[in-house]
Amino acid sequence: MEITPEIKERLEKLQAKYAAMGQDMVSYLDGLLHADFLTYWDYIHLDTLLSLQTPKTSFPDEEIFILYHQITELYFKLALHECKQLADKSNLTSEFFTARVKRINSYFEALTQSFDIMVEGMEKEQFLQFRMSLLPASGFQSGQYRMIEIYATDFSQLVDKEHRERLAKADLKSQYNHIYWKYGATELSTGEKTLTLKQFEKKYEKVFLELAESCQSKNLRCLYQQLKARGEENPELQTQLRQLDVNVNVNWPLSHYKSAVRYLNRQPEEIKATGGTNWQKYLPPRFQKRIFYPELWSEQELEEWGKAWVYSVLGTPQ
Ligand code: HEM
Repeated sequence: MEITPEIKERLEKLQAKYAAMGQDMVSYLDGLLHADFLTYWDYIHLDTLLSLQTPKTSFPDEEIFILYHQITELYFKLALHECKQLADKSNLTSEFFTARVKRINSYFEALTQSFDIMVEGMEKEQFLQFRMSLLPASGFQSGQYRMIEIYATDFSQLVDKEHRERLAKADLKSQYNHIYWKYGATELSTGEKTLTLKQFEKKYEKVFLELAESCQSKNLRCLYQQLKARGEENPELQTQLRQLDVNVNVNWPLSHYKSAVRYLNRQPEEIKATGGTNWQKYLPPRFQKRIFYPELWSEQELEEWGKAWVYSVLGTPQ
């Protein structure tokens, strides 16, 4: 075989690379000689991925429910992947910021558009039966969903709206004690925390508080304000952040709410939600009023947060 200048150049680079680490290049070439060719299925761990669906009942539609939750968690992971890069970026520019928020938006838009897989895609009678075998588990317990929020804005913005202003400058623990989701997981009959919430807190409270602490000066809202103070913001970044606010706090919650309405609304008697929660008063965005970037909205837009969308998605005032 002829050792062409191209091959020689690569060998020299490899030699330098291994020498720098005190390694013998020839041994590594031996390794290459024996190594198998990579396959698609090994690379993405396909067999493992496809073995992760273990329904608790024999209703076929439960598999759809599991798979769609897993798909959603993978998209959440994609969103977090971008959040982390933004938070850790040194010399952040508005171009990079804009491009990465745009990616997160495309993930949430894919999720919002595909939510019909839940809303229309399962037989109601099957759903109502298999979900009883899943109690007290709920998508409410998605840790990644809450982490995206912690990365997206100041922790104080996640405080329940009744306490948000009062606790705006409070310490993280006090804010956490009134975080919005705790109000969605109280048993209607007793006013007690649901088991769903108790288990969620046990697993994630420490993780959330640590993340909130580390995001205090590098959440997306903070990063935006830092860029703005340096005169480096741009209109496209504002547009993308506004879109993120709508995607995470209005559009996705509404498509999700639509599935709760489809499966759990039964007149005249309501079907209990996972933990016996008042989900109809809790889930709609216009009641929660979670807003990541209030400074990017007008008074009127803030006032009417989520309203127009409720009507256009669900058809009737809720
Ligand atoms: C048929 C489909 C679904 C129904 C009927 C449904 C129902 C509900 C209900 C009633 C709640 C309120 C808390 C509770 O009582 O458990 C809730 C919360 C939640 N669910 Fe779902 N859900 C569905 C699908 C999903 C999917 C696919 C995900 C994706 C991970 C998800 C994620 C969440 C999250 C993150 C919350 C908390 C929302 C918040 O705190 O504002 N859900 N869901």
